[in-house]
Amino acid sequence: MAEHIDHLLTGEGRTFPPSEAFRADAVVDERIYDEARADRLGFWADRARELHWHRDFTEVLDWQPPHARWFGDGQLNVAYNCLDRHVEAGNGDRVALHWEGEPGDRRTITYAELTDEVRRLANVLESHGVGAGDRVAIYLPMLPEAVAAMLACARIGAIHSVVFGGFSASNLRMRIDDARATFVITADGTWRKGKVLPLKPVVDEALAADGHDVSGVLVVRRGENEIEWVEGRDRWYHEAMADASAEHEAPALDAEHPLFILYTSGSTGKPKGILHTSGGYLTQAAFTHRAVFDLHPETDVYWCTADVGWITGHSYVVYGPLANGATQVLYEGTMDTPGPGRPWELIERYGVTIFYTAPTAIRTFMKLGRQHVQSSDLSSLRVLGTVGEPINPEAWLWYREVVGSGIAPIVDTWWQTETGAMMIAPLPGVTALKPGSAQVPLPGIAIDVVDDAGTVVADGEGGLLVVTEPWPSMLRTIWGDDDRYRETYWERFGDRYFAGDGARRDADGDIWLLGRVDDVMNVSGHRLSTAEIESSLVGHESTAEAAVVGASDETTGQAVVAFVILKSRFADAQSLEESERTLRAHVASDIGPIARPRQVFIVPDLPKTRSGKIMRRLLRDLAEGRDLGDTTTLADQGVVEAIRSQLR
Ligand code: WT7
Repeated sequence: MAEHIDHLLTGEGRTFPPSEAFRADAVVDERIYDEARADRLGFWADRARELHWHRDFTEVLDWQPPHARWFGDGQLNVAYNCLDRHVEAGNGDRVALHWEGEPGDRRTITYAELTDEVRRLANVLESHGVGAGDRVAIYLPMLPEAVAAMLACARIGAIHSVVFGGFSASNLRMRIDDARATFVITADGTWRKGKVLPLKPVVDEALAADGHDVSGVLVVRRGENEIEWVEGRDRWYHEAMADASAEHEAPALDAEHPLFILYTSGSTGKPKGILHTSGGYLTQAAFTHRAVFDLHPETDVYWCTADVGWITGHSYVVYGPLANGATQVLYEGTMDTPGPGRPWELIERYGVTIFYTAPTAIRTFMKLGRQHVQSSDLSSLRVLGTVGEPINPEAWLWYREVVGSGIAPIVDTWWQTETGAMMIAPLPGVTALKPGSAQVPLPGIAIDVVDDAGTVVADGEGGLLVVTEPWPSMLRTIWGDDDRYRETYWERFGDRYFAGDGARRDADGDIWLLGRVDDVMNVSGHRLSTAEIESSLVGHESTAEAAVVGASDETTGQAVVAFVILKSRFADAQSLEESERTLRAHVASDIGPIARPRQVFIVPDLPKTRSGKIMRRLLRDLAEGRDLGDTTTLADQGVVEAIRSQLR
């Protein structure tokens, strides 16, 4: 019994092999590992050739560490692969998107219709002078137009930079400036938690000050909220589309043509513009989507809950599923609007068979109670996925039991904005699943766990996760900052990629992810930088000094906890509650609501080492209410007591 409970808590030791029925019908079997092992580059070349190439490649990989070229002399068009190809194969009538708005309005869009939409939009963009290599900022919510906008850019070779709709005007502006974007696509507003959240006003605010290159703003009508209009710059999406031709030939673009930039937090205050290119990215996004979810495009209905503003939305809402001709659900709103049964109603209505979400969402569903789940018929579900952070075995088992009727395989997928596509994950028809572990590198992917010196550690020992061979969907650089690209990922271990995650391999060779080892927090599966929030806090007039840590949180994985020293005139003039409230609101409006600290502690001092470095470990211990370990390097032992007295 004790052993049984132990297994339940750790997940270790208890495995769930695929059922015979699942295995018999799976799209890949165990031979795929042998195939990739026998000839890694040949394996990826075969996966690439499952796409349509305008010009076939002869070169698979050119690796000049840390720069890779995949399929370098080939040419393809990413949008053609996601759209026209399926129509030409006779699948134009297949549903691409079952879209549902938060208020419950619905649209069904076939592959033929989406192809038509993207061709028109490609013409609209070109008529505004947007061409190959130009950067387009997309600030759109979860609408079919967001998918169309990304694909229209891909079609003409413009580089999109999608900015999550929860980011503030200053964050949007920073991304517009860094990429020197010339065009913006947005919406008037979107439905969120039963209200219209305005978006166009954020774009107006972002563009208010001169110094940017944006000459046009295309506006999708959705919220029907009142907006201001800049004549000569702004244009309604539906008006532009009505005038546009549906004829547009997809040009052949180089395999290494840039596809998109996506900003993500690093350990410094400035977000990194992760650059992905075309052929290799699409190859790995499509292959992993098909193999890891066991996709049968003729019969499956797939739903990934991620927003297109994150990498998961890029690779597993747009590029992977559409390259595979999948039918999917796209949902505009929040999971608890109008009530906690919302996701399960959607699964029943559309007969969703594959569901992909984040551990934080699963823990929230768990807390709300199984009755909300069980009031819908979920018998269509046959594969469940998770991504974004380690999933605790309790949540894994609940997910399988309550959502997956005790039979659906769960694929825990480890990857990053930088990796572009999944890297470590089980294959549901092959792997005996182990709750809490992402398990094994995918075929064609090479991973090690090493110590600080770069030596592979023994199984069972913790270390740092590295990718030892280049992979097709790897980032190619950081936009405009190749030095930072080298320093961040490649300086530490030579030509091995440093992921920034701690990991451990167990005796079976399965990999357990142990969280970030840098100053990056993971809040609800979203990456936030401690430095970025600290600089936002210091940007407020009342702050003298700030330190931010990620403290463990039952629901969100980690939560932002800030320690702030006020300037004395504010410390005297305001109540602690007032200061805390002001600073939390300041961060939310400065960066975005996702960065809002769970707690702000106003403290008289911060614990520092004798060399002046803030001791974050100690602050994290304090925030999590733990006993403090070794504090002998602390310069002033009295500081801790002073802070502790503030933590109520
Ligand atoms: C970081 C990447 C990949 C899309 C979502 C997040 C953590 C991601 C897992 C997982 C344990 C995970 C890592 C990684 N992470 N998936 N299955 N198990 N940790 O993308 O914002 O680039 O964040 O998320 O710490 O480094 P991202």
